[in-house]
Amino acid sequence: MSKPAVQRRIRVHAPPPGVEEYDVLVGSGLLDELPRHVAAAVTAADRFAIITPEPVGELFGERVLAAFGVAGLNAALLTFPDGEVHKTRQAWAALTDRMLELGFGRRSCVIAMGGGVAGDVGGFVAATYMRGVPVVQVPTTLLAMIDAAVGGKTGVDTPAGKNLVGAFHPPRLVVMDPLSLESLPHDGIRAGLAEAVKHGALFDAAYLDWIAANGAALVDGRPDLLEHLIARSVQLKAAVVAADPFDQAGRAVLNFGHTVGHALEHATGYSLPHGFAVSIGMVVEAVAGELMGVTEPGTAARIRLVLAGLGLPTAPPLESASRWDELAATMRRDKKAKAGVVHCALPAAPGAVLPTAGGDWTHAVPENLLRDAVQHASPGSELV
Ligand SMILES: NC(=O)c1ccc[n+]([C@@H]2O[C@H](COP(=O)([O-])OP(=O)(O)OC[C@H]3O[C@@H](n4cnc5c(N)ncnc54)[C@H](O)[C@@H]3O)[C@@H](O)[C@H]2O)c1
Ligand SMILES: [Zn+2]
Repeated sequence: MSKPAVQRRIRVHAPPPGVEEYDVLVGSGLLDELPRHVAAAVTAADRFAIITPEPVGELFGERVLAAFGVAGLNAALLTFPDGEVHKTRQAWAALTDRMLELGFGRRSCVIAMGGGVAGDVGGFVAATYMRGVPVVQVPTTLLAMIDAAVGGKTGVDTPAGKNLVGAFHPPRLVVMDPLSLESLPHDGIRAGLAEAVKHGALFDAAYLDWIAANGAALVDGRPDLLEHLIARSVQLKAAVVAADPFDQAGRAVLNFGHTVGHALEHATGYSLPHGFAVSIGMVVEAVAGELMGVTEPGTAARIRLVLAGLGLPTAPPLESASRWDELAATMRRDKKAKAGVVHCALPAAPGAVLPTAGGDWTHAVPENLLRDAVQHASPGSELV
């Protein structure tokens, strides 16, 4: 018998009533074992809708469908057009209509396979189809593995903004196969690594050092190293999610780098990939934290070094300073802002995060200070 592919099993605890615990399985080759694990975790389902963007369907669809067939499970592949521009109510409507056409009933289970977009759209279909059916998340980008697939947030974008219509719908199971990342371009790996650096910067300095020491091999996609990285990041995120399953308090720390990051994404018309924007955002916010006295001096420099070693950008685009008013306006509209005051999640030191004296997990950051931080984080500054 071949060696079972599950190398690590991480239990996501979710204490409030009504929120069930689930496992995250990480292992090379797990994609071929998917039906067995799905059947064990979702015993009541009699039909499976594999929801995936077209290119991911091309990569893995036939293989996964065949595995369901061999296992004697009734599955259909439902594809939708690729990309963030299709994370929409239109995609949700087309997919739910298709499921209705195909006669999917209340004992259906959705398998959301692909990047974060597939997880969000597939999860939202599952949250709403016949008032909710189980979802199994099968992330196939590093960002989706490390970030999107764990935590239960699902939804779609609207013309008014990203992720504005959605639901909390925790998965029954999450299955991650590092071998499925082989087809990702290096920049796709780098974008995911930025979120892993975030986890190290907030919670685990030794992990930050490990990422730095293994940077080149990680970017190259070495599966054993990626497996370790995914498992450690999932453990760290799962602990935060368990403490705050509905994103009302402590989960906000995971937004380190994202106040500035989102503003940069917005200012560049989303041409800057999310992970790259967060990379720059972490450096700027850590500098701001140092200027405020919240963050230990040297933290920004350390984070910047790790990010630069991974080939991630760390300096704001040159025009950032001149477009400051626009960046500030976006940050005032950020979901963490309170009464128009910009807030950031900030590490206290590499691998450590503390609440404010008032018990909040984000800090009010004066805009002039953030503006200085953008300048300090720019090339040639002596601060970082
Ligand atoms: N729900 C959450 O908690 C959460 C958290 C973080 C991010 N997100 C969401 O995730 C999305 C970003 O996720 P993403 O970066 O994975 O983007 P994505 O889903 O658009 O995937 C990026 C590209 O990679 C392709 N792809 C997927 N798997 C591949 C593979 N194995 N090989 C080659 N190509 C592959 C996709 O088809 C797509 O073209 C955003 O919409 C964001 O809002 C959600
Ligand atoms: Zn992010």
